[in-house]
Amino acid sequence: MQVIDDIARLRETRAGLRGQLGLVPTMGALHDGHLGLVRAARAENDAVAVSIFINPTQFGPREDLEQYPRDLPRDLALLEAEGVDVVFTPTADLMYPETFRTYINVEELSVGLEGASRRGHFRGVATVVAKLFNLCSADRAYFGQKDAQQAVIIRRLVSDLNFPLEVVVCPTARHTDGLALSSRNVYLATEERAAATALYRGLQAARQAYDAGERRPEKLRGTAREVLEGEPLIDVDYVALTDPGTLRGLRAPSDDPLLLLIAVTLGKTRLLDNGLLPWSLNDRDGLTRVLGAT
Ligand code: PAF
Repeated sequence: MQVIDDIARLRETRAGLRGQLGLVPTMGALHDGHLGLVRAARAENDAVAVSIFINPTQFGPREDLEQYPRDLPRDLALLEAEGVDVVFTPTADLMYPETFRTYINVEELSVGLEGASRRGHFRGVATVVAKLFNLCSADRAYFGQKDAQQAVIIRRLVSDLNFPLEVVVCPTARHTDGLALSSRNVYLATEERAAATALYRGLQAARQAYDAGERRPEKLRGTAREVLEGEPLIDVDYVALTDPGTLRGLRAPSDDPLLLLIAVTLGKTRLLDNGLLPWSLNDRDGLTRVLGAT
């Protein structure tokens, strides 16, 4: 496994890798969710590259950039064990030199939901993934459904800017009690960790209502919100029921696939989760299939 932190060597190494390359962009602090993406990339490509870069442009001034968990030796050991070919570990100065002035803004999709609470977040995400796509010349890039809005935005970016790359969205990896794996879960105190299961319980309550025939958007949202509001430690930011492609809120009952998204704050930690309705769509290709070809 080659660990590379400069652009010329990355390009040279990519040129020497035969066949198709799968890229897994990460910010490190790897967990089983990331490793699932690496395994999907391994299964579908001749070579696998992983980037580890805590991207400063996607953090707001009051966010956790400085505290974001870091453990490069552990991350590298995990990736080595997965048979990864290349790990790209650039510095912030390499990615954003003094002269850097170009940002990508995916309009409309970046405005609501996470975009409303984290202004500028998706501009930073879109910019860094575009740079990583260009630098790595990957054939496929792998993202988790847990960050569904991010996945939808990246697919739009790839399509709009004609990147010759396929975006693969893999299902959310979960603990046995349903909590979605996230690098930020390490921030949760014991009682917060217990309360955090309400996100999954809320999604499941909405799923049950949907399965019982409920289609009214306010009822489906309200069912999930009720579970979240039953946890005094949780501060609900939003519970949204949207069209998965446009991320526009649903106003009228629909039998089309829907995306139910939740964001909460627990203590100082922001947690997200989501699920497609019908729930059976949350399978290996669920969100990828629902969004259609890039
Ligand atoms: O999902 C993440 O970890 C980050 O947003 C990403 C895609 C690696 C871009 O920095």
